[in-house]
Amino acid sequence: MILQRNNLPNIDQISEEMSRVLGDYDRTELREFFVYYQQCQAGAKEFGTKLENLDSEFEMLDNHNPIHHMETRMKSPRSLIRKLGKKGYEFSYEAVKNNIFDIAGIRVITNYLDDIKTVETALTKQSDVTLLKRKDYISHPKASGYRSLHLVVSVPVFRTNGPAATPVEIQLRTVGMDMWASLEHKLRYKTDVEKAKVEQFSGQLKNYSSELNQIETNMQHIFNHLQEK
Ligand code: GTP
Ligand code: MG
Repeated sequence: MILQRNNLPNIDQISEEMSRVLGDYDRTELREFFVYYQQCQAGAKEFGTKLENLDSEFEMLDNHNPIHHMETRMKSPRSLIRKLGKKGYEFSYEAVKNNIFDIAGIRVITNYLDDIKTVETALTKQSDVTLLKRKDYISHPKASGYRSLHLVVSVPVFRTNGPAATPVEIQLRTVGMDMWASLEHKLRYKTDVEKAKVEQFSGQLKNYSSELNQIETNMQHIFNHLQEK
């Protein structure tokens, strides 16, 4: 099942928001950007279908669904412009196309640890998929304790004028990693929590991240044992 976050602006919405932020910006340049934005949305749909098809096949072959659920979201104009700024670029279609690879994002939440590798391999070996970037925060968790596998993959989207390689960011994580990340995200963005408390909770969460990893590893063993025929 794919859950669509409400943050999925359509072209009219995004064009209105962009015009508001950028004022009387070059119209043709904006148009190029909108066309690209919609292309990224189409890229996410392509990957969504690929992932659903893989999940169904695994269910049939192994009586196991690696994918617990998926979420898809499009980057809002505000965070797009903020991210460009952080990287030192002014807004332009070229700057977006060359530097922002997560306009479309899919989060794949898996049941078990090994499912992440299974889904990654099955997806990236497809002949129309190109792996552009891979950040493995599972083998190398972030300082916060954050764990997930981040991929930027590209797929051809067939436009009226031919195929266009389109990047989509895919974050793969287990149910446990997802639960952890949601709580840690809340802590990070809550501004009304006292500093001492934030430090205490951050430390606790960091420990829980490795405890969760241990629990998930042990549960994987039980699962493997039960799957053996
Ligand atoms: P680019 O490579 O330019 O895309 O940089 P980036 O900062 O977007 O990449 P990064 O690999 O750091 O991934 C960013 C996304 O991962 C965020 O939007 C979050 O969804 C997630 N993320 C990364 N670090 C953390 C963290 O410490 N805690 C939580 N809760 N989420 C994180
Ligand atoms: Mg990113």
